[in-house]
Amino acid sequence: MKFFVDTADLNEIKDLAATGMVDGVTTNPSLAAKQGMNFKELIAEVCKVVSGPVSAEVTALDYETMMKEADVLRKIARNITIKVPLTQDGLKVCRALSSEGTMVNVTLCFTCGQAILAAKAGATFVSPFVGRLDDLGVNGMQLIEDIRMVYDNYDSFKTQILVASVRSPEHIINAGRIGADVVTAPPKVIRQLYHHPLTDSGLKTFAEDWAKTGQSIL
Ligand code: E4P
Repeated sequence: MKFFVDTADLNEIKDLAATGMVDGVTTNPSLAAKQGMNFKELIAEVCKVVSGPVSAEVTALDYETMMKEADVLRKIARNITIKVPLTQDGLKVCRALSSEGTMVNVTLCFTCGQAILAAKAGATFVSPFVGRLDDLGVNGMQLIEDIRMVYDNYDSFKTQILVASVRSPEHIINAGRIGADVVTAPPKVIRQLYHHPLTDSGLKTFAEDWAKTGQSIL
């Protein structure tokens, strides 16, 4: 399972990248807006820290302008992945960019039908938003299960399922159970994965018992 970090916060990205666990980064206009920095400069910095796919989203809604924006963004670094919305124009852009060898992440996917369209458009990644579905009382992970099942029926579908809108470690574990290709999670959720109270209490006991020996490994 690949781990992407879902943030535009450069310090967070640097900190997590140092663990060697970060395979890529996803950003979106809302995450970028929080940084108060020039978007293109920000993305260029992120691409210096992480060598895997870095998603940078177009902001226009029409085909021509999205293509122009994508052209600017993809020149920033070789690992840029152009993020496009799951709309008719967005998928047209996806098809055009994919056929030129540019990685594309189709975002804002909420149904299995939309995921089929993304695969047919040659998307590198499709991003189903599980948390936002859960918020509506719809089981987001069921969508991941459905997409996995459908994609596995067709060898011609090469699109990777990128589980997005992740809110908890449970989402990551369930994505793994289903066999999703990638999970993108906020730094906070990735950090939560490390923790368990029994790990903390176990460490405390080990430290206390070791201290009683009066020994030192070094
Ligand atoms: C994915 O690429 C999006 O940036 C993100 O996962 C959206 O998550 P949210 O629903 O927590 O905003």
